[in-house]
Amino acid sequence: MKYILSPSFLSLDFTRAGEQIKAADEAGADWMHVDVMDGAFVPNISFGPPVIKSLRKATDKPFDVHLMIENPDRLIDAFVDAGANRITVHAETVYHLDRVLHSIKEAGCEAGVALNPATPLSTVENVLDLADMVLIMTVNPGYGGQKFIPYCYDKIRALRATIDERGLDTDIQIDGGAGRGNIREILEAGANVVVAGSAVFNGDIEDNVRFFKDVMNEFEGR
Ligand code: DX5
Ligand code: ZN
Repeated sequence: MKYILSPSFLSLDFTRAGEQIKAADEAGADWMHVDVMDGAFVPNISFGPPVIKSLRKATDKPFDVHLMIENPDRLIDAFVDAGANRITVHAETVYHLDRVLHSIKEAGCEAGVALNPATPLSTVENVLDLADMVLIMTVNPGYGGQKFIPYCYDKIRALRATIDERGLDTDIQIDGGAGRGNIREILEAGANVVVAGSAVFNGDIEDNVRFFKDVMNEFEGR
């Protein structure tokens, strides 16, 4: 299995954003996780297409854009134009999940579906073939630096079992509360894409990225 580390821009020091992104890139981060919050679906506001377009200049790594916004279908083109490579929408924010996933793909992007901790896996079962990734939120979305919710391990395990049973290669991403203390448990449960914000950008970025990637390489070699 291919393991991916996707550091979250939400934890950047924006006065030094370019420099910190380059440090994560050079240390071996695979993708860059871009958290978009609208102050409506989640109780916080982050940034939108113009900021993403500007940060796009700091790295060639894929931009994994996590839309925590209401009516994401209206803004897909704007995020594609800003440089998104993969766009993930929350199942809780769309009436027509199948249609939105198709329109993301038609716009030339990979498509993901995110589920809040309390949202059941059955919500995505019918679109597992269509989606490139399922994002299992392991905190309630809105803020960086929160604690990983333990019951999410069961969700990751159950989704991994379904994906393997059906012979699919859908990525399982987790987001929220990942760190040095639980990365092994997270990969063991079956996630292959890990978002980390504070655990990458707080402290020594290079050392943090290397730590995650060393564990991932160890799992890849199994
Ligand atoms: C939560 C965001 C996450 C968050 C992760 O709403 O979607 O991407 O920034 O931050 P950490 O890794 O600090 O929990
Ligand atoms: Zn996120």
